[in-house]
Amino acid sequence: MKKLFILLSFISLISACGGGKSPEAGTGANPYSTGEPASGTPAYDPNRGLGKWTAENVALGATLDPAMAAAGEKIQAVKCVSCHKLTEEKLVGPGWKGVTQRRKAEWIMNFITNPDPMIDKDPAVQAQLELCLVRMPNQNLVDTEARQVLEYMRKNDGVQ
Ligand code: HEC
Repeated sequence: MKKLFILLSFISLISACGGGKSPEAGTGANPYSTGEPASGTPAYDPNRGLGKWTAENVALGATLDPAMAAAGEKIQAVKCVSCHKLTEEKLVGPGWKGVTQRRKAEWIMNFITNPDPMIDKDPAVQAQLELCLVRMPNQNLVDTEARQVLEYMRKNDGVQ
């Protein structure tokens, strides 16, 4: 009976480690490593996301650019409206109302020009993915188009 108990606790010890490696099989890896590549790549920044856009290069005006917003509305009506409402209500993806307050402009620019790597890394997007059950497909927006859609989102959030 005692032997059986020892055997069982040994088995649970192994399975608790995931991956099936015994605790002694050290890899020599730094236990405090963040798992980021050693090349000095910075850790994922959930405020900015992944891509070339930063707080510095997304130039937001203090007021709305109505022409840019109008161009954004046209793009939205073709490429986004099938999945996003302008209200808070979810359709396939989250409603757009409040998105410019929830997310930084650079995050939105990075996400809408190249959603894939951010869907894989961003904790907030992962949570949305669990609710929406659909990965947002890349809509192949060029930079100008993305910036126009962002301006339209600002308009939708009340920027004048
Ligand atoms: C096929 C459906 C679909 C289309 C088309 C689509 N999206 Fe999405 N979008 C999603 C889903 C689903 C999410 C939630 C994240 C996920 O699960 O990938 C999302 C998330 C987003 C978010 C983040 C919202 C938030 O609250 O954080 C933005 C911004 C966004 N989409 C912009 C756009 C823009 C701009 C377009 C059009 C150019 C577009 N989407 C077209 C499905 C879509």
